[in-house]
Amino acid sequence: MKKRFVLCALIGFCAFNLSKAQTYPQILVNNQKFSDWNRDGKLQPYEDTRLSDYERIDDLISRLSVEDKIHLLLGTGMVGFEMLKGFEAIDPKGVTIPSYLIPGSAGSTTPIDKLGIPAVIFTDGPAGVRISATRKGESNTYYATGFPVGALISTTWDVELAEEIGKAIGDEALKYGSDIQLAPALNIMRNPLCGRNFEYFSEDPLIAGKFASAITQGIQKNGVGVSLKHFAANNSENNRMGLNVHLSQRALREIYLRGFEIAVKESNPATIMSSYNKINGTYTSASYDLLTTILRHEWGFKGTVITDWFGGYADVSAISDTSHDGISKDSYEEKIFAQQIHSGNNLLMPGTQIQFETLKKYIDSKRLSIEDVNNSVRKVLEIIFKSPRVAGYVPYNNPDLKSHGLLSRKAASEGMILLKNDNGALPLNKGSKIALFGSGSYNIIAGGTGSGNVNKAYVISLPKGLEENGFQIDKNLDKTYTSFVKEELRKTEELKKKLLAILPILTQPTIKERVIENSAKENDIAVITIGREAGESGDRKIKDDFDLSEKEQNLISEVSNAFHKLNKKVVVIVNSGSAIETSSWKGKVDAILWASLPGQEGGYAITDVLSGTVNPSGKLTQTLPVKYSDVSSSSNFDGVPAEKPTDVSYREGIYVGYRYFNTFNVTPSYEFGYGLSYTKFDYSEPVLSSSQFNQKLVISLKVKNTGSVAGKEVVQLYLSAPRGGVDKPAKELKGFVKTKLLNPGETQVVFFELQPKDLASFNPLASAWIADAGVYKIEFSSSVLNSKQTSSFTLPNKLIVEKVNNVLNNDLNFQDLKSNR
Ligand code: BGC
Repeated sequence: MKKRFVLCALIGFCAFNLSKAQTYPQILVNNQKFSDWNRDGKLQPYEDTRLSDYERIDDLISRLSVEDKIHLLLGTGMVGFEMLKGFEAIDPKGVTIPSYLIPGSAGSTTPIDKLGIPAVIFTDGPAGVRISATRKGESNTYYATGFPVGALISTTWDVELAEEIGKAIGDEALKYGSDIQLAPALNIMRNPLCGRNFEYFSEDPLIAGKFASAITQGIQKNGVGVSLKHFAANNSENNRMGLNVHLSQRALREIYLRGFEIAVKESNPATIMSSYNKINGTYTSASYDLLTTILRHEWGFKGTVITDWFGGYADVSAISDTSHDGISKDSYEEKIFAQQIHSGNNLLMPGTQIQFETLKKYIDSKRLSIEDVNNSVRKVLEIIFKSPRVAGYVPYNNPDLKSHGLLSRKAASEGMILLKNDNGALPLNKGSKIALFGSGSYNIIAGGTGSGNVNKAYVISLPKGLEENGFQIDKNLDKTYTSFVKEELRKTEELKKKLLAILPILTQPTIKERVIENSAKENDIAVITIGREAGESGDRKIKDDFDLSEKEQNLISEVSNAFHKLNKKVVVIVNSGSAIETSSWKGKVDAILWASLPGQEGGYAITDVLSGTVNPSGKLTQTLPVKYSDVSSSSNFDGVPAEKPTDVSYREGIYVGYRYFNTFNVTPSYEFGYGLSYTKFDYSEPVLSSSQFNQKLVISLKVKNTGSVAGKEVVQLYLSAPRGGVDKPAKELKGFVKTKLLNPGETQVVFFELQPKDLASFNPLASAWIADAGVYKIEFSSSVLNSKQTSSFTLPNKLIVEKVNNVLNNDLNFQDLKSNR
């Protein structure tokens, strides 16, 4: 039966392909003939590929029992996650757990064997396809490429490169048999302490939306779907399942939803994953306003919404128990599951026995309408119908890991940011002797932990990267650090086996002054790496994490003193996906390279930039504050009560990241958009299509490489809106272009286009996006604080750009931070 459905779908896919456009493309693997599957001569409408998918799904729905439908609304979970027992209990004969098909996958839909409806498989995550690298009884391996994390992909400011990475990830997903890749993740980096910042793109919604969109397009070109996550306002990890986020509709729409809006409208994602948290009192997964009114009605989303794993339960500890009996009653409110389906959250991941029973009870008593159920069943069937599995794709498990490794290396070096480079400390002289200090130099962190981790075949170490490229490293230091780091890592072996382990930050060994002084004599330059681990389900700390530890501070001071005495330079590499404090120590060193979490090729990619093989062109997509307390959400990030927060209030409103620093004149250590190059660029005067805004505005300007080596520049367009109905930030990013590699003296013309919505702010009183009349100032900048050209245009009359629904209003009475600008 299963085979039969697959064949039907296969033919259906071809017919479908000819007749109408798909929301995302599929792979054509059809060599079957219509007659091949019509074996019993009895063609059921749902198998009839001459009908539209819509009609076929209609027919299928009419054949499903209520129990079948509930099965389709509840997915299965990860292998070894004991909640699966719930399903075996429901249907001991019928249900095989499909995620066993791909060990290490995150889950699947539930198959309905009697109708031949197969399961589609979901795999994490943003930095590559997360599956187990080995399988019981097999010698073959199933490694996936460890790409740089989202926080580094965005610092390339190169959306084409992001799409290429998406394509490669989608290709690996397809070849390993996954149907939906649970990525990209695009929550806003509201605060440097969020444990998952590394997976996200930026503090700015335009960057988040554009990169999510590029990656989605890349992945979906393979016929594999994506899941944009986590929708929405999931900006911290501490007690993430039980956290009520209070925020204004304006902050929600302008900051926390805007990236999702861009990505939905530009890239047609197959699915969206609702987040764990509540927004103003309602779980996002049970919010009709969010999932239907905004997402579907306002934005036109056509895909399927799935929960985050166990979304809607208040507490993960209650469900990580070993049987469904372990779910305590107070970890959920029964009606939530019916509300989730009613609200347009179509698939609950992974399903549980309790959800099955509850949904049945609510359907039987008509508290959940069968129309709501059918709508969601249709949405689940749609992803099944469009899946590579149903298109008959055979996973050969043979992705081109070699070429993807090269892409990973290229992307990593493109996204690294040169924060400081006094007196040409970098690039390194050929063949330099390098004293590598800091535990981090001997343990490059490729990515974060949790679902964002990828089981990659290797991580290139920094010593390997340097040595293979003709540099020499200090062998004494190498020996001391290598054995220290090995021992430290050994202590975390047990912890690493846990699904949601967050690894401790490596401590530093004591390096005697004499050793440092000797190494200064024997080497040409010192490189110190500061590394930071992070992962889901926990947030970072200020002490010894955002702030450097005392040992790290001392190391920087002592190494700098010793090397500077001998006129030798010191370079610091920051190996972190989220902001750390840089202000107290940056003056002591000559160069700083922000290497982020660079993926499996880390050691090579860092070397590419240090050596000058790659001219750095990355720019910050998150502000590096002078101190933690300078961040606008520093006093209200943790939520209350402190130990296990149930409530957090986004009192800073729209003033997140640079919007706050600029408007309130708080000087950062390194500002948003900042990053140096080994060359220099000039911008010509911008040319505007008109001095008055009318429907749209096109601007062009020339960028010239005025230095002596080839390089790339990121031109950023910031817009300052005139005063009007609501508070306005000093400026906002409204466009960016990365040039091609420009040779010395070479020029490129770059173009920007402004649309009405780029001028608008959300006015909650009018429930509309409004562009106020007046003069709009435009800056063309190499960072938010370094404007190189300016211009302006006028909007003669106030423009109501878009009327929307007045929903999701704050449930607490507080005023957003105001600048009165
Ligand atoms: C994470 C998601 C992930 C899911 C499945 C959850 O803990 O929040 O991002 O996709 O697990 O692994």
